[in-house]
Amino acid sequence: MSKIIVALDFPDEKSTLQLVEQLDPGMCRLKVGKELFTRCGPNLVRQLVTNGFDVFLDLKFHDIPHTVARACEAAAELGVWMMNVHSLGGLAMMQAARSALDDDNAPLLIAVTLLTSSGEKELADIGVQQTPEALVKNLAKLAQQAGLDGVVCSALEASVLKQQCGKDFLLVTPGIRLKDNSVDDQQRVMTPEKAVANGSDYLVIGRPVTQAEHPIEVLQLINKKIS
Ligand code: C5P
Repeated sequence: MSKIIVALDFPDEKSTLQLVEQLDPGMCRLKVGKELFTRCGPNLVRQLVTNGFDVFLDLKFHDIPHTVARACEAAAELGVWMMNVHSLGGLAMMQAARSALDDDNAPLLIAVTLLTSSGEKELADIGVQQTPEALVKNLAKLAQQAGLDGVVCSALEASVLKQQCGKDFLLVTPGIRLKDNSVDDQQRVMTPEKAVANGSDYLVIGRPVTQAEHPIEVLQLINKKIS
């Protein structure tokens, strides 16, 4: 199975399926995020699951523990492979999410540490004096303490987090760019090969694939580079 998770950041079902119909589950997994989920809802997620894809539901739940736990149960009922919460919701919130998803068939549960679009300035703006790396290490430690399966982080932090959390703690890294790609709104980016070498278990790739003239060729190329 591929380490690539394609971020289906599309505005509607039609454009989503136009890409998905060209893909097969051996080539990549799929990520449904806030835009697509808000537009198309659970039915599209179920359809992708029925078509044999591993689906990562990226809704980054961040709320009081009770609400997050019930939302996690609802997400698990869709048959998704992986889902996430936001670690800034705190230890009790992550523990509640874990308790809601504690059977053998439950989806993998991971926590976002710091968005890859945020850097030192964004942290300072919200009053956080720590460096991105120090904050990410701390949040990953909390996620592991809560019993989560891994975290979403930048590939820049992957090697330090593998050392800190051990090889079985999953690292899922967005902000992946090929050498000649635009960085877009991301700040902390890395190439696929380097991300995997740094310890990333799964690469979340959106625009470099979805906006490419030949998405399948890009996917095949990246799969080759990291296999
Ligand atoms: O297009 P691009 O490759 O930048 O897409 C990255 C995807 O990963 C987006 O769907 C974004 O929501 C998601 N993501 C991220 N940073 C995080 C967590 C998720 O960019 N920390």
